[in-house]
Amino acid sequence: MDLSRHIETFTAFAAQYLTGNQKNDYLIQLKIDHSLRVLDNARAILDGENISGHSACLTRLAALYHDIGRFPQYARYGTYKDADSTNHGRLGVLTLRELDLPGKLTDRDWRTIRAAVALHNVKDIRSELSAPLSTMVKTVRDADKIDIYEVILDHLGQDSETKPVVIHSLVENPDRYSDTVYRMVFSEKTCDYNLMRYTNDFILLITGWIFTLNFTASVHLLAQKNLVERAFSILPKNDRIQSLENKVLKFMHYKTLSTP
Ligand SMILES: [Fe+2]
Repeated sequence: MDLSRHIETFTAFAAQYLTGNQKNDYLIQLKIDHSLRVLDNARAILDGENISGHSACLTRLAALYHDIGRFPQYARYGTYKDADSTNHGRLGVLTLRELDLPGKLTDRDWRTIRAAVALHNVKDIRSELSAPLSTMVKTVRDADKIDIYEVILDHLGQDSETKPVVIHSLVENPDRYSDTVYRMVFSEKTCDYNLMRYTNDFILLITGWIFTLNFTASVHLLAQKNLVERAFSILPKNDRIQSLENKVLKFMHYKTLSTP
């Protein structure tokens, strides 16, 4: 499979949404760059887990196209917040169906890729998925979380009109965080985006993602990027945050010790 032709198709499709408006174009470019980095992360995870062949090929495509719904979402609704617009995973499936895609993959393969796109952003995967969909969904979800982790941390320090779109218009107060979010993250439960009030809640939520990563290679990638340390350096300093940091670091230590 010629991945470069797919990258060209994807970027040409996304570039149609560039309008010349600075804010719009910044936010469209953010999702183009995100998609390409998710592809890179997925490649690193597949290599680290020694996954190759056809399922790795389908996984790379699912990673590249996972957020294709973001472009029509922003054009129609002016937001990336699904709760205020539409489910971008499902919109991605509809978008992919209409797209003229290169290569010679079978209809069945494209159906599997679309299924992975639909499942990349669901809160929890409840049922056991069959191969290769299971590998695709697990890899794309991990690759996506690792990049979002970085994008959120990068944007928290910025002061721009695009920041509210990226950090979901949360209240900025360096000392505040929600008790519910803290308790959910500490007990390793999936925290809903709707529970967030403060920017620190978003940081807490992403620090909890480490417990949800599907592959040891994903924990390695997160560790390599130094993201956990960066997240805790922003959060307020107190005993509760310290216990969470100890718990996260211990988890990361044992996971990364288990394999090279
Ligand atoms: Fe997404």
